[in-house]
Amino acid sequence: MSAPQLEPLPAPLTPAREPDAGFIRTLRFRLMFSVALVHVVLMGIFVTDAVREQSDRIQAELFSRGRSLASLTAVASTNALLTEDLGALAEIIQRVKSQPDVVYCEISDSRGYVLGTTRPERLGKRLPLLATNSEQFPLADGDHTLDLRENIRIAGQMVGTATLGLSTVRMDSAMAKTWREGLLFILAALIAGSGAAWALSLLTTRGLHGMLDVVRRISRGDLNARVPVTTRDEVGVLAVAFNNMVSSLKRASEKAALEHERRTQAERLACVGEMSATIAHEIRNPLSAIINSVNLLGGDTLSQEDRAQVIAILNNESGRLNRILGDFLNFAKIRESEAVRADLKGLIEEIANMLYQDHRTEEGLRLTISCAPEAQSAVFDRDQLRQVLWNLMLNALQAMPEGGELSIRTKRDGGKITVNIVDTGCGIPPSALKEITKPFITSRKGGTGLGLAIVQRILVQHGTQLSITSHEGVGTQVSFQLNGDD
Ligand SMILES: Nc1ncnc2c1ncn2[C@@H]1O[C@H](COP(=O)(O)OP(=O)(O)OP(=O)(O)O)[C@@H](O)[C@H]1O
Ligand SMILES: [Mg+2]
Repeated sequence: MSAPQLEPLPAPLTPAREPDAGFIRTLRFRLMFSVALVHVVLMGIFVTDAVREQSDRIQAELFSRGRSLASLTAVASTNALLTEDLGALAEIIQRVKSQPDVVYCEISDSRGYVLGTTRPERLGKRLPLLATNSEQFPLADGDHTLDLRENIRIAGQMVGTATLGLSTVRMDSAMAKTWREGLLFILAALIAGSGAAWALSLLTTRGLHGMLDVVRRISRGDLNARVPVTTRDEVGVLAVAFNNMVSSLKRASEKAALEHERRTQAERLACVGEMSATIAHEIRNPLSAIINSVNLLGGDTLSQEDRAQVIAILNNESGRLNRILGDFLNFAKIRESEAVRADLKGLIEEIANMLYQDHRTEEGLRLTISCAPEAQSAVFDRDQLRQVLWNLMLNALQAMPEGGELSIRTKRDGGKITVNIVDTGCGIPPSALKEITKPFITSRKGGTGLGLAIVQRILVQHGTQLSITSHEGVGTQVSFQLNGDD
């Protein structure tokens, strides 16, 4: 017969380790980075365009001023050129030179003779024009003078050339200043944009972070946790939906707990009923035998020999009754384990030798005990482990009525000490193996079927359990583990 087993509540899920995102992988950083990047790229395009436009304007201004100055010089020097009035030409040249940015100014006649110039070494000589390099932007690298040339014509005929050079230094520094200001503007935009993006990302992800905290509390089992709903946006909607889900989860979990409690109660009652019936059944046989024997002894029809036989039965049956009740009390009254470090090898040897003496047979019973040096002590409740070893070794010996080999081995597996009890007895049929540790499961005449049930309960209290492998006609190995370290 088997006692019904209580179905355990599903174990809480072990929460998976959260990935360590690192700041760079957070949604907050990504959001901030993207917004800041878009901001900077757009501002960069806008500022570059504005600065380029400004530069073009500055250049155009200088060019147009240069052209006007060259034209004016040409017009102003026409008469002086015709009359070959070098003094007037020198005066015109000086006036032009006094204009801002003018580097040089020169007037040549149609044959190329220099008649007026800001460079005295060239005066009166027939030299190539100064304005040969550049008459428009961009200038060559390292050239800081914009050269301009204007032909002097009278009645459509060219009588000379006015050339002048304008320094681009002032323009260059104005342009550099414009670029500097543009870059400063981009930098300011970057800082302001990042700040705004940071604030935006904070606002957007704040709700998610709140939700994350609540999810963590729920995963620790706190189903009363709720996400505060502070906004009406998508995060707010998500928070409401999430809270609804948790409420449903809580209701389902309460319902499941109630159902489990109800079933546990029912199973416990069924178990008590079944156990009572089993005990009554177990007790009835020896009790009937005792009653019969007492009745027989009460009469005077028994011979001396029969009387001795009846008394022997009386002794046997009352002993059996006592053992059944003793086993049952042992099973019912298993106390909390008080595990301390103790001598495992010594205990094994003591019990094995005691049982070996009782079960020695003529066919031969061999006993082997082998405890690895690092597996000779463990953490256990001495009295309870005594009972575990006793029951297991006794079962092994009872499975080998005609002799065999019983070997007990201990070894260390990491922090655990494994105890193996191996016999070469009759073995256990596979169909019985699953139920064997349940109370009152026995195939042995006179057995109560409580031995392994007691062992299992004690081992569970030690945080471990029994493992049995068996082959019919070959033997059985039972093993369990104990804590090797305190
Ligand atoms: N080493 C073993 N070899 C073969 N069968 C075994 C072994 N150990 C246990 N069993 C089987 O398991 C059954 C249950 O064992 P358990 O110790 O719980 O009860 P029991 O030995 O029958 O009675 P008791 O309560 O007196 O121990 C046994 O009746 C036996 O059939
Ligand atoms: Mg037993």
